[in-house]
Amino acid sequence: MDGENRLALVTGGAGGLGLASALRLAGSGVRVALADLNNEAAQASVAKLPGTGHIGLGLDVSDEEAVIAAFDRIEEERGPVEIVVNFAGVLRAGVGDFSLAGLTVAEWERVFAINSTGSFLLTREMARRRGKNPVSHGRIILVSSAGAQIGGYQGSAAYFSSKGSVLTLVKAAARELAPLGITVNGIAPGPIDTPMLRAATQARGGSDSGYTGMSRVPLARIGTPDEVAAATMYLASRDAAFVTGSVMDVNGGLRMQ
Ligand SMILES: NC(=O)c1ccc[n+]([C@@H]2O[C@H](COP(=O)([O-])OP(=O)(O)OC[C@H]3O[C@@H](n4cnc5c(N)ncnc54)[C@H](O)[C@@H]3O)[C@@H](O)[C@H]2O)c1
Repeated sequence: MDGENRLALVTGGAGGLGLASALRLAGSGVRVALADLNNEAAQASVAKLPGTGHIGLGLDVSDEEAVIAAFDRIEEERGPVEIVVNFAGVLRAGVGDFSLAGLTVAEWERVFAINSTGSFLLTREMARRRGKNPVSHGRIILVSSAGAQIGGYQGSAAYFSSKGSVLTLVKAAARELAPLGITVNGIAPGPIDTPMLRAATQARGGSDSGYTGMSRVPLARIGTPDEVAAATMYLASRDAAFVTGSVMDVNGGLRMQ
């Protein structure tokens, strides 16, 4: 990708998918502001990126003031953000019973705060900043899940529902931000080998409960973080200038439209 001088904010950058995408973006010459909930994890991850001009920062994407402050800092230090990629997300926020009957309001609201409100806050901040200080190839990439598309298979109803809201936010934002030259697209990963997937499988005592059941995945394997990063690279590229409001499925064929 033609990354020279572009600046990307990658959230969840210390996680499996976020780090893989940050590595690919940095490898193509993009300067990366790598954000994660835990500042130490963000610093350790940003240190792995090739190239120069990167920043690591602690950021809770569900915190309105913190999102604004993160943009302030990144833009003061590095200039306008051109690409936002939001990999920050949780399958669940607490411990306990995640069946629909057992879900607490606190769990529902916290999962929404991170997965859904976090996506909104980052998108809104880009809209505000690029409205005043436009860039030529603005990109927002929000991360949903195949689980939201096919009606859930791993995690709780709070997770699927929050990721479903991301699918709709992609379309609403794509329409509104088109006049600013910002494209908004989603990625809907299927089962990808990351700490999140391993934790979810362990929580079920190692059973895949049909989620990664290979009979359901035509390509008969779990995906790799790098395969999701390849989707990030395309959607972030200037070549993808005519692609907006779309959701790229990276799922081995688990769900076909
Ligand atoms: N791995 C999969 O199979 C899969 C499938 C579908 C969707 N996804 C989605 O992809 C994204 C990345 O998942 P992953 O597998 O890399 O998970 P992961 O757990 O490895 O990474 C998620 C990262 O998000 C960070 N995070 C959590 N809450 C945050 C907050 N409030 N603010 C900022 N950062 C926060 C975590 O610290 C972690 O580093 C998530 O949104 C997830 O829902 C993953």
